Amino acid sequence: MKISLAPLQGYTDWVFRQAYEKCIGGVDEFYTPFLVLPNSGEVRTSHKREVEPFLERNNRLVPQFLAGSIEEFQFFETYFSELGYKKMNWNLGCPFPMVTRKNKGSGLLPYPERIKEILETGYSGKIDLSIKMRLGLEDKSEIFPVLDAIKDFNVDEIIIHPRIGKQMYKGSADWDCFEQIQKSFDKTIAFNGDIETLEDYHSLMSRFPDLKHVMIGRGILKDYWLPAKIKGIDVPSANERKLALRKMHDEIFSTYSSFLSGDTQILQKVKPFWEYFSSQFENERKVYKGIKKSGGLKKYHEAVSFAFLQNVKE
Ligand SMILES: Cc1cc2nc3c(=O)[nH]c(=O)nc-3n(C[C@H](O)[C@H](O)[C@H](O)COP(=O)(O)O)c2cc1C
Repeated sequence: MKISLAPLQGYTDWVFRQAYEKCIGGVDEFYTPFLVLPNSGEVRTSHKREVEPFLERNNRLVPQFLAGSIEEFQFFETYFSELGYKKMNWNLGCPFPMVTRKNKGSGLLPYPERIKEILETGYSGKIDLSIKMRLGLEDKSEIFPVLDAIKDFNVDEIIIHPRIGKQMYKGSADWDCFEQIQKSFDKTIAFNGDIETLEDYHSLMSRFPDLKHVMIGRGILKDYWLPAKIKGIDVPSANERKLALRKMHDEIFSTYSSFLSGDTQILQKVKPFWEYFSSQFENERKVYKGIKKSGGLKKYHEAVSFAFLQNVKE
């Protein structure tokens, strides 16, 4: 079974992924949050950092991109293959109106002909392609014509997050529709969505025993040892976990400090990290509140010390 870390823009950046790999481990494959091609034709520095430095240390990273045109698709295939990647992931799932309005992310799902055209003309096959997608933008019936449009292309894997775009993150993942897809489509299909505990994982596997790849996002951010639990690897003791969490935090903090300038910029990065990181601790609300309201680095470090006085959760 492959367990991959889902991309979460703002949370699973290269700083996080690198620290997780070093201090925790257990994830088989990482995906970058999506890269976009700005009008300038030049990839943003923050996006370059996602794919350039991490590569040297980890060949299990799959870069993800948004593309709504042949040109964008071609740009990313060339860019990633020149960087030496063997795989790339096309995002057909992003539900945010700023993206879907431009017919990208899940905004491209109502246009299967366009998807076909992009693959036909844009994809040269230099590197393997996987596609991460929702069930549709407005309706879950949209996925079937899309699957039909891509069935004849050399697509390595489809990762399904079974919600529609307009749902955002509301409601629950639609296992019935996932089952229908699995039955009707003969390419490799991975599952993503709402797997937060070992019990969730076991229920998923008892319904879909053929799955070979489960992608997990928020579940891992809330419990760093979820991949270990799934794989039956011994979970360290509470004391060891606390030490690993401390190391993880310090690694993240020092990496951000090494390239960001000023307390404000650093706090802007580490505070969102605690939105999920605080879930590892008992008294998580109080822990997060302390971090959130810390106005400067001194107060921040006090809030961090308070957090590490708490017990870590099982
Ligand atoms: C804050 C946030 C940012 C996200 N950013 C991305 C992204 O850049 N690319 C992507 O494919 N999915 C993105 N997602 C979706 C997740 O990868 C994943 O599909 C979704 O959270 C469901 O999986 P989970 O329940 O295991 O977290 C994001 C989700 C959230 C909550």
